[in-house]
Amino acid sequence: MISLTEDLIELGKKNAAIKAVEENVSKNMIIGIGSGSTIVYAVKRLGEINKEKDLNLKCIPSSFQSYQLIIQNGLELVSLEQYPEIDVDIDGADEIDKDLNLIKGGGGCLVQEKIIASNSRNLFIIADFRKNSQKLGMNWKRGVPIEVIPMAYFPIMEKLKKLGGNPKLRMAQSKSGPLITDNGNFIIDTDFGEIDNPKDLENKILSIPGVVDTGLFIGMTNKAYIGNRDGEVLILGKD
Ligand code: 5RP
Repeated sequence: MISLTEDLIELGKKNAAIKAVEENVSKNMIIGIGSGSTIVYAVKRLGEINKEKDLNLKCIPSSFQSYQLIIQNGLELVSLEQYPEIDVDIDGADEIDKDLNLIKGGGGCLVQEKIIASNSRNLFIIADFRKNSQKLGMNWKRGVPIEVIPMAYFPIMEKLKKLGGNPKLRMAQSKSGPLITDNGNFIIDTDFGEIDNPKDLENKILSIPGVVDTGLFIGMTNKAYIGNRDGEVLILGKD
């Protein structure tokens, strides 16, 4: 049986996704598609309006999951080689702070998600009420996902401890051993507690050899659409 809270979370995800799509998508746009459970609602709505309004949307995936979602919803799949400038990127997040900085990568797709976001004119984040925070690390307790080259994982974990983190190698499910990303790498989830200066932390982690990228998305978000418990969608950010 699904609990009332779970129902409200799903409703929050769906309302945020639909509002972000309906407010920001128009004819002939190139759309970046994020990953996770919230994006599923956005891609479904994109598929519907693309057909209803003949929008000619072209979509670039950030993971195997979003590749499949694009196809399943009858949208046109394209690549960064064909369209290196994306009009609108829609994606989920694990936590959003008051300045719209993000922790992402709970689903393990942070590297491709950051590539898509960094090549987009606009990044719109869709999330339910649990993700809205004052500070990163306040509500999201699984740590900052960090994608690393496998041979370097052990020394990187030692260095992350010296930065004040509590690193844990993410393990696979239904397979013994570490999770392998779509890029063939490992992920180290590192809890830094509440993060006072996310930009500074990001720079320090990126300076460690073998780190591919982090799930800290700093200063990239244009707007965050937060689906609240009451059915309303709170919009954070500016035009
Ligand atoms: C995947 C991500 C997701 O966008 C993030 O984990 C949010 O997922 P969900 O919509 O399921 O809450 O960063 O790498």
